[in-house]
Amino acid sequence: KLRDAKDGGARAADGALDLPRRLRRNRRADWSRRLTRETTLTVDDLIWPIFLIDGEKRREPVATMPGVERLTVDEAVRAVESVARLGVPAVALFPNTDPALRDPDGSEALNPDNLVCRALKALKREVPEIGLITDVALDPYTSHGHDGLLEGDRILNDATVAVLVRQALTQAEAGADVIAPSDMMDGRVGAIRTAFDDAGRADVQIMSYAAKYASAFYGPFRDAIGTRKALTGDKKTYQMDPANGDEALREAELDVQEGADMLMVKPGLPYLDIVRRLKDRFGMPTYAYQVSGEYAMIQAAAQNGWLDGEAAMMESLQAFKRAGADGVLTYFAAEAARRLKAG
Ligand code: PBG
Repeated sequence: KLRDAKDGGARAADGALDLPRRLRRNRRADWSRRLTRETTLTVDDLIWPIFLIDGEKRREPVATMPGVERLTVDEAVRAVESVARLGVPAVALFPNTDPALRDPDGSEALNPDNLVCRALKALKREVPEIGLITDVALDPYTSHGHDGLLEGDRILNDATVAVLVRQALTQAEAGADVIAPSDMMDGRVGAIRTAFDDAGRADVQIMSYAAKYASAFYGPFRDAIGTRKALTGDKKTYQMDPANGDEALREAELDVQEGADMLMVKPGLPYLDIVRRLKDRFGMPTYAYQVSGEYAMIQAAAQNGWLDGEAAMMESLQAFKRAGADGVLTYFAAEAARRLKAG
């Protein structure tokens, strides 16, 4: 289509298209790309999940998560100090419990001196400026690797919730600022909220794994906390079906009604549509968990020279912001924070 005969004729002569709208104009220089950028990833968006082991002055590599190590409490304090200095607002703690302490009921979860509680106390004392998030679920403590109590091959919902409430209180007592139920039992957020309020702990926040899917992407995590071999069967009777989106809204709605302060979607990149839908519907602080398998995929490809690992890391984190997330739990947090600081 010609805009006018004279101009159009000239353009036609040199092959130029008559386009009043050209989206590339805003992309032509760095200053302009910065000026028109819609979302910004900052260090304030990062939550760093770390793995704990018993002992002292020891770090153990996690074979399936290159770059990730299990840390003894003293090493965790040092590592967390360094990310706090970079400005990372919070860390999430996951214990690799001594197999001798695991039993069918996950009773070690209620030990006020368990690995997570010892780490909470040390971190609260040594790095008081960082937020401490703990996972509420029984899988690091059960001999069968499930998040709840088993009767035959059934996960009991209400009996599990009663234990999770005690686990959450134990963690709050040790210094957890935010407790994050990842078990997907029905009614646990409300039960924990009520118990906290009754115990004079109205200030402890709840970040609910509102939409947590039964995902293949958790494989490396189960290595990290030592449940992969123990786990019998799968978690499909409590974690969500990857085929479902509307159901995530129903899960989140209940958690909001029950008193959740923040919502989480997990895994991350394969579920960005869910992040967007939750954010749009509820307007809650909404987080995504870039899980172990997502991390492992990027690291493995980078190690093979198949992609630029740092660029893929930053792009994946940026994508969560674009989808509406207020933050990301990511094993890349320390590295991304360093990279953001370097500019
Ligand atoms: C346990 C829990 C899991 C993860 C976080 N909390 C594993 C599972 O549900 O089996 C996975 C995190 C990751 O893969 O990085 N309730």
